[in-house]
Amino acid sequence: MAEADRVPAGIDPNVPSVARMYDYYLGGRDNFPADRAAAEKMIELGLSMGADARQLALGNRLFLSRAVRMLAEAGVRQFVDIGAGLPTQDNVHQVARRHIAGSRVVYVDSDPSVVTHARALLDGDANADGEVIAVEGDLRDPEAILGDPRVTGHLDLAQPFAVLMLAVLHFIPDDAEAAAIVARVRGRLGPGSFLVLSHLYTGDATEEASREGSQIYSGTAAGGLAGRDLAGITAFFDGLELLGPGLVPVGDWTAGGLPGDAYDLVGSGILGGVGRR
Ligand SMILES: C[S@@+](CC[C@H](N)C(=O)[O-])C[C@H]1O[C@@H](n2cnc3c(N)ncnc32)[C@H](O)[C@@H]1O
Repeated sequence: MAEADRVPAGIDPNVPSVARMYDYYLGGRDNFPADRAAAEKMIELGLSMGADARQLALGNRLFLSRAVRMLAEAGVRQFVDIGAGLPTQDNVHQVARRHIAGSRVVYVDSDPSVVTHARALLDGDANADGEVIAVEGDLRDPEAILGDPRVTGHLDLAQPFAVLMLAVLHFIPDDAEAAAIVARVRGRLGPGSFLVLSHLYTGDATEEASREGSQIYSGTAAGGLAGRDLAGITAFFDGLELLGPGLVPVGDWTAGGLPGDAYDLVGSGILGGVGRR
């Protein structure tokens, strides 16, 4: 089938999408030439700074998998994955299911095609017990997400739950806005709830490289990309206890890892951490 034939209704394949670029980094097939061209530029830029976008994406998925495993083993059964992305291997519900029975997951994304895709995958046997749902929602309005009747009907938010925001906050370039969003999410976390977060780290990137990266993403619906420094990313966990190794390069994060200062952060690309209320 010609590629143009498989463009779902409502999608403009000529406008690169953050979700499809990420799918391309991960070796997926749900992307179009415009996504691949933008992603290739990003890969090239990353390589010139010593951080391969493909490796970073894979490291980020590894972090997701390890963090969800740790939480599931600790008994967490409820997950809200904001900016979930196109389904790939080892999505949250698949990892959680391997380690705890009866976990309930909500996938949230602002890209309607991601939600459609997730729902198609969840139809049928893979989700026969209805433990997983996907809803459209914007990170900028966490109250709308956590107050959505489909979400409150699926999860008991009075009980412990984990919110995941992986590789998504760097699409909110304004520092004050990003901080306020995460503070509002943290405000919803009662004792025993968790925040799992990963974020593009400025490391030793030059201003020019950062500008170029943002320029590449300015052509997507996200409109830009903003790495943050260690203090900026650490502040997202204010009032939470950072577990395991703390905030470290995503590919290095393990539940029993060495303390954060054992890692070389320069040029590391994406940092991840798990915080507990
Ligand atoms: C780089 S992907 C990350 C996917 C997944 N969280 C992971 O880390 O593997 C970013 C995802 O965030 C979504 N996204 C971007 N801005 C968003 C927003 N304001 N609200 C919700 N989702 C958003 C994109 O559509 C995309 O699917």
